[in-house]
Amino acid sequence: MSASIDAGATAAAFRQLYGGEPDGVWAAPGRVNLIGEHTDYNDGFVMPLALPHSTVAAARRRDDGVLRIHSGDAPTGVVELRIADLDPVTVGGDRGGWAAYPAGVLWALRRGGLDAGGADIHYDSDVPTGAGLSSSAALEVSTALLLNDLYGLGQSAQQLASWCQKAENDFVGVPSGIMDQTASACCTEGHALYLDTRDLTARQVPFDLAAEGLSLLVVDTQVKHALGDGEYAKRRAGCEEGARILGVRALRDVPFGSLPSALARIDDPVIRGLVRHVVTEDRRVEEVITLLDAGRTREIGPVLVAGHESLRDDFTVSCPELDLVVSSAVAAGALGARMTGGGFGGSAIVLAEASEADAIRVAVEKAFASASYRAPRTFAAVPGPGARRLR
Ligand code: GLA
Repeated sequence: MSASIDAGATAAAFRQLYGGEPDGVWAAPGRVNLIGEHTDYNDGFVMPLALPHSTVAAARRRDDGVLRIHSGDAPTGVVELRIADLDPVTVGGDRGGWAAYPAGVLWALRRGGLDAGGADIHYDSDVPTGAGLSSSAALEVSTALLLNDLYGLGQSAQQLASWCQKAENDFVGVPSGIMDQTASACCTEGHALYLDTRDLTARQVPFDLAAEGLSLLVVDTQVKHALGDGEYAKRRAGCEEGARILGVRALRDVPFGSLPSALARIDDPVIRGLVRHVVTEDRRVEEVITLLDAGRTREIGPVLVAGHESLRDDFTVSCPELDLVVSSAVAAGALGARMTGGGFGGSAIVLAEASEADAIRVAVEKAFASASYRAPRTFAAVPGPGARRLR
């Protein structure tokens, strides 16, 4: 699962498919989240970083109201859509398959009053799909960025991320927060992005692991996750119910210090768990940022583990395979580990001394083999650049 961005190959595939040159080639990365899980739809804090894995899109503007899209990964051939017919009910969600994401972005931009039009687009992607690494955000953000350029829409990276979230929420029908799209659009090389999801202020936090002799492994359990299956939406609705019971706008507004008294006001143990996770997770983001600012990167390990336990026990979005990555990695000497992304499968991250990373990877693989789980796929994450035009 090594990352490769080859603008030339994507442009060549475009030429073969559509004839003629693309107007440009753009890329948008997948992400992992270091800490701050299921906080983004609670107005809380997150800290993702961009992966070196990207969706690369070669595109050419067309002015006849038609969107043609093709993906090197999908067996669907060229999907041709009339812009006037773009509709969340007939084209969005499951009916549109992968095409709903780019179609939804164009729909959201136009619905927002922006003058985006048709295009021929070919996508190549090496972001693993269904692995909790935001392949859909990479697809959305690459589309938004190329439309922004082709039609001179003048939108900032964060604005593009917000249009992409609208596409995902209102066209595809997944009630996701703003983290993944913002990570793909706004991350920078060598940094994690500390984002306040309420006012969208962000800070680039230096995260140069190699310089510190550290390694961040991403372990894809290959257990496929699907955010659309209702469990994610259930957690989100439960958090909103918690905020309603506590009389706050969002769970971000429950101070950590008053958590015990807040929990005492909630009868439903499920809602209590959701609230406890979100409030403690926001606190963990603060702890991690304080440690990183102080140059004490190794000490974030236990905070990551505490985050995993909270997602497992209070938020109930882990699964046995993710739990096994964490327990086997920690037993083999990792500094910390936790599931990353929405959960229900997907990937975990493991923070380790660079010199021990390989032994830890082997230990996790052995643990998976002993449990008769499918072999996981592991790679080291180096914080890469956010979305950009390649040519
Ligand atoms: C998914 C969603 C994000 C976020 C994470 C959990 O990746 O798309 O908005 O809620 O789950 O932190």
